[in-house]
Amino acid sequence: MKVLIATDKPFAKIAVDGIRTEIEAAGFTLALLEKYTEKQQLLDAVSDANAIIIRSDIIDAEVIAAAKDLKIIVRAGAGYDNVDLDAATKAEVCVMNTPGQNSNAVAELVFGLLVYAARNFYNGTSGTELKGKKLGIHAFGNVGRNVARIAKGFGMELYAFDAYCKDEDIKAEGVIPVKSVSALYQTCDVVSIHIPATAETKKSINADLLAKMPKGAIVANTARKEVINEEELVQFMEANPTFKYVTDILPDNHATMTEKFGGRYFATPKKMGAQTAEANINAGIAAAKQIVNFLKNGQQIFRVN
Ligand code: 3PG
Repeated sequence: MKVLIATDKPFAKIAVDGIRTEIEAAGFTLALLEKYTEKQQLLDAVSDANAIIIRSDIIDAEVIAAAKDLKIIVRAGAGYDNVDLDAATKAEVCVMNTPGQNSNAVAELVFGLLVYAARNFYNGTSGTELKGKKLGIHAFGNVGRNVARIAKGFGMELYAFDAYCKDEDIKAEGVIPVKSVSALYQTCDVVSIHIPATAETKKSINADLLAKMPKGAIVANTARKEVINEEELVQFMEANPTFKYVTDILPDNHATMTEKFGGRYFATPKKMGAQTAEANINAGIAAAKQIVNFLKNGQQIFRVN
């Protein structure tokens, strides 16, 4: 059995070594395609793979069709909006993710972004502190829970909205559940976004919602660019000169945002949330183990299609 790691954004070497150990211990072989620049390289690499480990790499119907011996795709991470699930299902390919494995790394980056924004991007002027501010956690999954844990150390007041999480589960983490998305934005000085990109959430962070936030608000997005209505964000920021937006996912209108909102907008050039050795090891080795268990024992834990 041949397992391919196909990562445009490579794992740390220590994680690749750990994945190799798992795969070879099972008697399988490992192939590596990193930092590819053309889709054709991916199409060629998947042609004889039985399993692939990916990150945000786009696995569309064309890639699945080119992978004629493919049995399983594991997205080493949480969000799997980069995989065409229908095409995978039609081709009888199992798709899994590795939930929770990189969530602390993403949550730590949230605070890197928030401190940077609250201190005016280190421009020498007086900023603000996070202590005592109301933090809204928009979706209380694995990343949201880690954000809550860290925010307690900063002395923030914590609120969360999650349509799929029971109030008592949110309260159990010392966080106040709110009843709606709009109540969250209305209540909080700072919002950290952790919703997936789905048909329902795409462009859902719009001017109407942002207008509910108090003056001087900050929104941090370490989730997906697609959840933001980018046109309305520009209009909103033009009309609200104290609002700051920090993100780990380069918006499509990054050039416009930079030109118009220098000093209150920042985007990492490449998504960095999960880019730590620890997260790479956790997610990469979990992916390798899931592949071995699936191919050897038919175990389907974390299957998403
Ligand atoms: C995820 O969905 O797990 C995160 O967005 C991390 O994505 P990445 O592996 O491409 O850095």
